[in-house]
Amino acid sequence: MLDRTLTVRVARKRRLTDEVTAFELVHPWGRTLPAYEAGAHIDVWLPGGFMRPYSLARAADLSAHADGAAGCARYVIGVKREPASRGGSASLHERVHEGDLLAIGTPRNTFPLHAEAHHHLLLAGGIGLTPLLAMAEQLDRGGRPFTLCVFARSRAHLPFADALAALGSSVRLHLDEPAGGQGGPPAQHLDIAALLRQPAPGTHLYLCGPAGFMRAVLDAAAHWAEAQVHLEYFAPPTEAASAGASADEPFTLVVPGRGIEVPVAADQSAVDALHDLGIDVPTSCAQGVCGTCVVPLAQGADGEPEHRDHCLTATERRSKVALCCSRARNGGRLAVEIP
Ligand code: FES
Repeated sequence: MLDRTLTVRVARKRRLTDEVTAFELVHPWGRTLPAYEAGAHIDVWLPGGFMRPYSLARAADLSAHADGAAGCARYVIGVKREPASRGGSASLHERVHEGDLLAIGTPRNTFPLHAEAHHHLLLAGGIGLTPLLAMAEQLDRGGRPFTLCVFARSRAHLPFADALAALGSSVRLHLDEPAGGQGGPPAQHLDIAALLRQPAPGTHLYLCGPAGFMRAVLDAAAHWAEAQVHLEYFAPPTEAASAGASADEPFTLVVPGRGIEVPVAADQSAVDALHDLGIDVPTSCAQGVCGTCVVPLAQGADGEPEHRDHCLTATERRSKVALCCSRARNGGRLAVEIP
């Protein structure tokens, strides 16, 4: 359960679009950084006291350490400046510069590629491209079949355009606006419903993007097998967050493996209550979207979870729970395993 924190240097800050800036992070003394698989994210501690998770946007360029272990030369994150920023994206855009040192967490992957897939269909909306670009590059290097569909307002809003061009015909673009305004080349549209109408056997679908995009894709993929659909939200979908959740009540968190019962107050999360006892569960988003705080449910114990996450499938919810947001139903008991 231990996470490592690293210090990295901002080697390059590059504006990709009017809204999106890429930050290239390297080891301060030129060593390699821990390797990662596509779909991974890092937590970044920012000026102003913020911590935010960001997906690693490119496939790892691996090389061997002196001890033989694989490492990589850089991490790249692509950050969209959000008009309604809670401080994270504004802090990165305005207060972080080339040469600055940042503290980051080591990469964690809660949105991995599934090796059993025969074909990977990657659907990216806006800055949701970042984890899917890393996946596309990793699949491309491995010679594995994939299609990356990128939905953006226009070419001018397309981040990592050079990396997308390098992936050739495996990339399909949906652009809402014609290039160069009226009179320019026409807009390009992809029909999501048509794209997802007939899931081919062995095809896995991955999606990441803003809430409206996610809703549209999930509606169109409602007939797909749950095990073949994988997604990552930026933030909890607002309508889902408010639906079905009861007012918070105190409850009892039971950890049979440690022989403890932990009272969780109405204004506390299970993670906070455990932290007060000196038991740290790793967290990142603290909003139920990233999956970092997910632990197994204790089998055979009493109690029923009220799941409030947006990262577990219905099948996964039978055996796991996200402790940053979920609670025991009706103020009862919730039994989990914590290594
Ligand atoms: S910390 Fe992200 S789901 Fe709990």
